[in-house]
Amino acid sequence: MQNNQRSVVVLISGNGSNLQAIMDYSVSGNYSVAGVISNRPDAYGLRRAEQGNIPTAVLNHKEYASRDLFDNALADAIDRFEPGLIVLAGFMRILGADFVKRFQGRILNIHPSLLPDYPGTNTHQRVLDAGEKLHGVSVHFVTEELDGGPVIAQESIAIEDGDDAETLAAKIHQKEHVLYPTVVSWFADGRLRLEDNDAYLDDRLLPESGERIT
Ligand code: GAR
Repeated sequence: MQNNQRSVVVLISGNGSNLQAIMDYSVSGNYSVAGVISNRPDAYGLRRAEQGNIPTAVLNHKEYASRDLFDNALADAIDRFEPGLIVLAGFMRILGADFVKRFQGRILNIHPSLLPDYPGTNTHQRVLDAGEKLHGVSVHFVTEELDGGPVIAQESIAIEDGDDAETLAAKIHQKEHVLYPTVVSWFADGRLRLEDNDAYLDDRLLPESGERIT
């Protein structure tokens, strides 16, 4: 485990409500946010970072001729902050295999479904269309497989009559804002690791659904 494991860089593409929760927790928590990087210049999360006096960087993916060039520039921007952990918080770009290898075991993502169900985008509507009664959120290690890395923790919500994609998104956000800072704090304390595509918490191999919070 590196000695900068308590230093975190957060990658965003949009609103950044998870970034906000991670920043808020850090004020009295066991990690610090060294920087925030967005691939979109207009991401509201950049304002949140500035209000929290956290340095920001923008790497507009549209200005790069290829995914590899973007990934390399992003990796260099991350390294300048010298973080132990990279936290994807609503970061809507797919990262290539070389990028993932470079930061192996040090990238977390939050995904709005009970993985391995519903990887990809538009999860709330797809869950509704399938008539599911249960939905949820997963935090997982990022590996080369999209939304496929081992799950660290999950929290579920019941789908009620009258729920639509918007109400589900709001319920999921509430859960995310508690779950994500908690998992980041586990990493900061050196309690989490990725080994051979498995996630361990306190040296305990986590099940496919990770640590189930509810
Ligand atoms: C969150 O709900 C997160 O789970 C989701 O984007 C939202 C970002 O919200 N991530 C993905 O869909 C990744 N595939 P935020 O910008 O307010 O944190």
